[in-house]
Amino acid sequence: MKKRTLLFAGLLLLIGGLAASCGLSEKKITMTILYDNYIFKEGMRSDWGFSCLIEGFEKTILFDTGTSGDILFQNIDILNVDIHCVDLVVLSHIHNDHTGGLSAVLEKKHDVSVYFPISFPDHFSQEIRDQQATPIPVDEPIGICEHVYSTGEIEGSVNEQSLILDTDEGLVVITGCSHPGIVTILKRVKEILDKPIYLVFGGFHLMNHSDAQVREIIQEFESLGVEKCGATHCIGDTAIGLFKEAYGENYIPMGVGRVLQVSY
Ligand SMILES: [Fe+2]
Ligand SMILES: [Fe+2]
Repeated sequence: MKKRTLLFAGLLLLIGGLAASCGLSEKKITMTILYDNYIFKEGMRSDWGFSCLIEGFEKTILFDTGTSGDILFQNIDILNVDIHCVDLVVLSHIHNDHTGGLSAVLEKKHDVSVYFPISFPDHFSQEIRDQQATPIPVDEPIGICEHVYSTGEIEGSVNEQSLILDTDEGLVVITGCSHPGIVTILKRVKEILDKPIYLVFGGFHLMNHSDAQVREIIQEFESLGVEKCGATHCIGDTAIGLFKEAYGENYIPMGVGRVLQVSY
């Protein structure tokens, strides 16, 4: 298996000890689902897509941007999130239900770095520069800021990167659609950081899998030592039911408005 090397963003790490202007709490990260097919909190708007805000590290990170900027900002307003706190945007893959809200975000907050899989079309970087943001194509696994890594671009039916958060509880893995396969992604995570996986959440894209195939995937989760999971977005209702049944109280119900906290 190809040995992966972590490429640390040296400058980012140099300023790692400095406090961000907002979003910091006492060694605790807050992850808020801003966009999802499912509703967790009454009054939020659901739509096909995914977006999650991660606050509390040295940088505030927006992972994916949903389909519609209008719906994303309706949810941002309801949750009273300050979009100006976002320092970094990480896009899992090229599909519009993950990238569609990007322009609306960059209209409101220019000075951000946008991390995206290197296979995105060439014009994508220019479009980001046109909105006064900094494009960062991602190939190999990379350190994004202290405690946060990208899996690097993983090949699949659609190439994709996932986010890894290194916390006190173990690794938290956030996925967009998991087109390369959720198990392939988790195995990559283990190659990059050989630590226990505490929580995996996001889209797992198992709608076209049989119950038996989903059960096999759940077994792989167990053999990889995944402690908790929250399946959502494009996974499909049947697969959600199977994960719930298998994980019991360690299943984390997801949906727009869900807020999770982990210390680091
Ligand atoms: Fe998706
Ligand atoms: Fe997708």
